[in-house]
Amino acid sequence: MEDSKKIINTGLRGVTVASTRISHVDGEAGKLIYRGYPIFDLSDKTSYEEIVHLLLHESLPDEQQLIAINDRLVANRTIPESLIAALKTQPDNALPMDILQTAIPMLANNDPNAAEVTIENAQRIAESLIAKIATIAAAWHRIRNHLEPVPPDPGLDHAANFLYMMNGKKAEDVTARFFNVCLVLHAEHSFNASTFSARQIASTRAHMYASVAGAVGSLSGELHGGANTRVMQMLEKINSINAIDDYITNVLDTGGKLMGLGHAVYKTGDPRARILAPMSRQLGEITGNPKWYDMSVTLEEKGKKAFKKKKGIDIYPNVDFYSASLYHYMGIPADLFTPVFAISRIAGWTAHVIEEQFGGADAKPVLYRPASDYIGEYCGPEECAFVPLDDR
Ligand code: ACO
Repeated sequence: MEDSKKIINTGLRGVTVASTRISHVDGEAGKLIYRGYPIFDLSDKTSYEEIVHLLLHESLPDEQQLIAINDRLVANRTIPESLIAALKTQPDNALPMDILQTAIPMLANNDPNAAEVTIENAQRIAESLIAKIATIAAAWHRIRNHLEPVPPDPGLDHAANFLYMMNGKKAEDVTARFFNVCLVLHAEHSFNASTFSARQIASTRAHMYASVAGAVGSLSGELHGGANTRVMQMLEKINSINAIDDYITNVLDTGGKLMGLGHAVYKTGDPRARILAPMSRQLGEITGNPKWYDMSVTLEEKGKKAFKKKKGIDIYPNVDFYSASLYHYMGIPADLFTPVFAISRIAGWTAHVIEEQFGGADAKPVLYRPASDYIGEYCGPEECAFVPLDDR
């Protein structure tokens, strides 16, 4: 029987469960660093491929290392024909995150070394998954629209290639460049819900595919990565700056959520939102449709004020708030926003799985097994006497 007098840390807020060298989120200062480097420096100076190297191989690559990791990612982009055939059997209205989560174990089925838990194998699978998950998301978008998947273009970088595989034509330079920034910004965020899911599964010594499939499921929820889709749905539902006041009042009065606002750790602002907002503004101007950016700005201002009045606390946009209008301007459909988050965050997930399983002396692998407080039945002071089926 577990001890029912333990202190309950609901949602594990503030509970430190492991050490990590991968990233640090300073919620009070509003800072995010990947392996020591501030996100403000990385976001517009690095490619997603460099970030993959930084997260998986623990350093920013030199020129040769960058060529090598790029070559490995490009070589891994193609997905098995049997997976494409299986995707074609799925209903067009399947949720794209469910499709992603279904596809990961199918990749494991096609990998004869899936279950070998060694660091070299984990790194190999990580790079393979990072390359392939973008192809799967784009292929699914084509298949559900009764179009043939577009094969990857080895001449394009990871960001531009995804947009190309999704649309069947190359994206404008500015769009591909901003999309690369989005991938960099979403790649890693310490022990968020989906990463913790990945690490928890990895702690059982399950293989990389199992951990990543679990993380995809965790990311899909609207309180986590699923919020970016919900932000766009919210903007479309409000549809006009004039309707924002009523929307906020209604949500706060009925105990609902203003999607894309608030964060479990950032309490003075999410640095990623500050980088995403100007890109949304610029693409709004370039596409001649500033409405969604303008609405987001007003929703942020009015939502903050109303929230402060109601709850007495400050609330700020998180990473999902401005990424919604930004992805919309890039021509990405709202229900692909969360898969797009996944195709970036997979770099962080896989780095954490490797750290969890092979972290070294200061990060000794341990099976996660929290305690719980049983508040169910006892039959008086004693445990219940078993009653056979015929006598119940
Ligand atoms: N709308 C309405 N109420 C909110 C919001 C919001 N956006 N954010 C927080 N609150 C409420 C909480 O429910 C809580 O209410 P309570 O005191 O009555 O229980 C109170 O404000 C204080 O919340 P916090 O402690 O500051 O934040 P918490 O850790 O509880 O929640 C969360 C964080 C889940 C992200 C929350 O802000 C939220 O639901 N936001 C909307 C969904 C969203 O955007 N999720 C994406 C997060 S970023 C990411 O995962 C990639």
